[in-house]
Amino acid sequence: MTQKPNPLHSIKVNGPIPAHLARSVIEETLRAAILDGRIPCGTALRQQDLADLFGVSRMPVREALRQLEAQSLLNVIAHKGAVVAPLVQGDAVETYSLRILLESEALRLSIPLLTHEDIALAARYIEELDIQHDYTEIGRLNRLFHMALYAKAPNRRLLHLVEDGLNEEERFLRFNLEAMGLGKLSQEDHRALLRAVENRDVARSVELLESHLNRGVEVITRYLASPEAQSRKTSK
Ligand code: NI
Repeated sequence: MTQKPNPLHSIKVNGPIPAHLARSVIEETLRAAILDGRIPCGTALRQQDLADLFGVSRMPVREALRQLEAQSLLNVIAHKGAVVAPLVQGDAVETYSLRILLESEALRLSIPLLTHEDIALAARYIEELDIQHDYTEIGRLNRLFHMALYAKAPNRRLLHLVEDGLNEEERFLRFNLEAMGLGKLSQEDHRALLRAVENRDVARSVELLESHLNRGVEVITRYLASPEAQSRKTSK
């Protein structure tokens, strides 16, 4: 039997971490390693191993793991502890229909309150997406574009839920846009959506957002049925 390489070996810790930064450093480091696949789905993360790795007590480790769980990157499983979550949790179609509800509402509440600066920012993200070829960056810019349009929704809890959904999608995009040969995101969708928002046309904006997200459902459903997705499931 050969021993599997320990995924934590991919993480470099540069010197001692000041106590007041420990939680955020651990959270950001693990988040990056999960997102780019260095720590694969299904890996169990032990608090003591992480405390040793980062040279800190277990308390900031526990807090960082809790944050990552809230972002759907980890699941806490009885007797196993924190385990890196699968790429798509549960039923992708249900997840997306919930996202459509939440994001439509956030957009509806936000549009009347958006400033010219907010709209200019969203336009800049579209321009950056046009020239970006790195899938990690594409995932991030897509999330920032969407959040820019929802940012003025006064309900902060709603915005948190919306951001969790976008984080999950970002992770999926990073892995799979390239693998599926999809090339670019549907930038035409983004442009049409931004135009409707600029015109403060709430009904049209929500309609465009819904069809944009429904396209996402189709892509994920196709991916989950593909041989690649099946092999990922059985190998982990
Ligand atoms: Ni999008």
